[in-house]
Amino acid sequence: MPPRKIIIDTDPGQDDAVAILLALASPEEIELVGITAVAGNVPLSLTTRNARIVCELAGRPDIPVFAGADRPLLRPLRTAEHVHGKTGLDGPALPDPTMPLQAAHAVDFLIETLRREPPGAVSLCPIGPLTNIALALMRAPDIASRIAEIVLMGGAYFEVGNITPTAEFNIYVDPEAAAKVFACGAPITVMPLDVTHKALVTADRVAAFRDLGTEPGRAVAEWTDFFERFDKEKYGSAGAPLHDPCTVAYLLKPKLFSGRHINVEIETRSDLTRGMTVADWWRVSGREANATFMGDVDADGFFALLTDRIGRL
Ligand code: RIB
Ligand code: CA
Repeated sequence: MPPRKIIIDTDPGQDDAVAILLALASPEEIELVGITAVAGNVPLSLTTRNARIVCELAGRPDIPVFAGADRPLLRPLRTAEHVHGKTGLDGPALPDPTMPLQAAHAVDFLIETLRREPPGAVSLCPIGPLTNIALALMRAPDIASRIAEIVLMGGAYFEVGNITPTAEFNIYVDPEAAAKVFACGAPITVMPLDVTHKALVTADRVAAFRDLGTEPGRAVAEWTDFFERFDKEKYGSAGAPLHDPCTVAYLLKPKLFSGRHINVEIETRSDLTRGMTVADWWRVSGREANATFMGDVDADGFFALLTDRIGRL
């Protein structure tokens, strides 16, 4: 079976970085055809820098990285330096990137790639605010039917919000973009906080990364050490939730996850609940199902996969 072609749309972010490494560590299953950066955890100038740092850490300066939207469709940008640090990749000291940023805009790359490749050949893996994906769908509605699958990290239902009492950060930053993506008709698989808060990087899991004895292993250990301080203080949890790699792990081993195909709508009008993913888990709304909303993960299996793959870099 040839590797699955994917585009990762991202706002690195330590957990985004681990997701990118996991994809690059799995060339037999995944062909990462490009990375599109978006403003989110930190401004665009840093997410484009951080994406290239991660590619070079993996020894893959050949991966094309594109700059996308520097702000949400309608709203002012909300960033998350309080979680990810000033650079967005705080933790290990890593050199500035030397690989170039592509001249083309991320949205053009998304549209051109999806139009060039056969229908169903390319999957999208958005792990930040959905602004780039929404802009591509608005400019080229024909691409929706050509997308194999959208596997995104975002939203929450039983776990409730992490940036407000009702909203998860990626959806909260650009709820209008999220609404357009969830309405586009492409197959969507959602990794919400309901799942990612069960994928906690406990001390022994951090140690397993460090014990790999490799630069990528050390970086992952130091990123998660940095990243977890916020969540441990806020939730009193045993470690940080490793959000974004759940999307790539799903592409590699879908059976690690379980969920339901249900209707998911996005709140865009209320100031109080802006960005809430209204997931009809009990199917009471009568609205058409538009997404597979994950609810559980085999955390040990997830970390075994992640540690094994990172160890291959
Ligand atoms: O809420 C978690 C999400 O917001 C993750 O994608 C993290 O990287 C941040 O973007
Ligand atoms: Ca992210």
